[in-house]
Amino acid sequence: DLINAIGAAETAAAVEELRVAALGKQGSISGLLKGMGAMSPEERRERGPMINGLRDRVSAALAARKAELEAAELDARLKAEHVDLTLPSRPRRKGSVHPTMQVMDEMVAIFADMGFAVAEGPDIEDDFHNFTALNFPPKHPAREMHDTFFLTPDPETGERKVLRTHTSPVQVRTMQSQKPPIRIIAPGRTFRKDSDATHTPMFHQVEGLVIDKGVHMGHLKWTLETFVARFFEVDDVDARFRPHHFPFTEPSAEMDIRCDRSGGELKLNEGDGWMEILGCGMVHPNVLRNCGIDPDEYQGFAFGMGVDRLAMLKYGIPDLRPMFEADTRWLAHYGFSA
Ligand code: PHE
Repeated sequence: DLINAIGAAETAAAVEELRVAALGKQGSISGLLKGMGAMSPEERRERGPMINGLRDRVSAALAARKAELEAAELDARLKAEHVDLTLPSRPRRKGSVHPTMQVMDEMVAIFADMGFAVAEGPDIEDDFHNFTALNFPPKHPAREMHDTFFLTPDPETGERKVLRTHTSPVQVRTMQSQKPPIRIIAPGRTFRKDSDATHTPMFHQVEGLVIDKGVHMGHLKWTLETFVARFFEVDDVDARFRPHHFPFTEPSAEMDIRCDRSGGELKLNEGDGWMEILGCGMVHPNVLRNCGIDPDEYQGFAFGMGVDRLAMLKYGIPDLRPMFEADTRWLAHYGFSA
């Protein structure tokens, strides 16, 4: 009945208990085995095989039960940990493209199609590239009017760097490093001390610059009208060029497009509202000269537009500030699948 008890043991612990009771130091079979030492040779010859046989059968029963229980346990685990590879996977959260970057990519693609190359410049600029070379008069309040972020002046030279207030310094860097003809756009970050529903201290612009012989306002107008139509995916846009002033262009203009925004969404070429979308003009002769280009030989036009604002317009985003708050719920709503 020890053998029966082993066969009925339900757990590894119960099997172990039975093993100790039978074969442990104080075990019943161990007792019998020990007792053999005190037997006479005849007695040992007679009872020995029986005792040894008993020990062997009990050992074998213990090992068999143990193996059975282990196999059952493995079965149960395999069942519990079974993976159904045919089930659909759980949805995974993935990143998305920020509307500003999406729109920047769209703009680059449109201008690349028109033969423009992409140029870049640093976010931290010197006064020369951000202002002086662009014909801002020295000590002119325009430097402050741009709500400029000034860095701490260099203790040795007193030079005061700025966070670029526009992408126009890339015009200067390009003209300094390349010979005309030049046809570039410069997408990038820009900075102004400004913060309300339509202004953030950091925003994005795309600058454009064309320098060649015989370039005139007609080229500027065609390029920008073609761009805007492609950007808003329409055949034509009603646009007007309103006289304006920038130190680095002459004449200067702002481009407005006709639209109706009364219903919340943008209806292009409808209603009698005009919305300003960019600044532009013919590159000022002083700027060409400051960059080593002879204004009697070459002319050019330039433009600059706010990427974030155009993203808001195109995709119906009502407030500029959440664009830069990195709230993933906002991104999930307005972002573009990667
Ligand atoms: N730099 C101007 C701005 O930030 C835009 C501009 C660029 C205007 C090029 C004319 C020519 O407002």
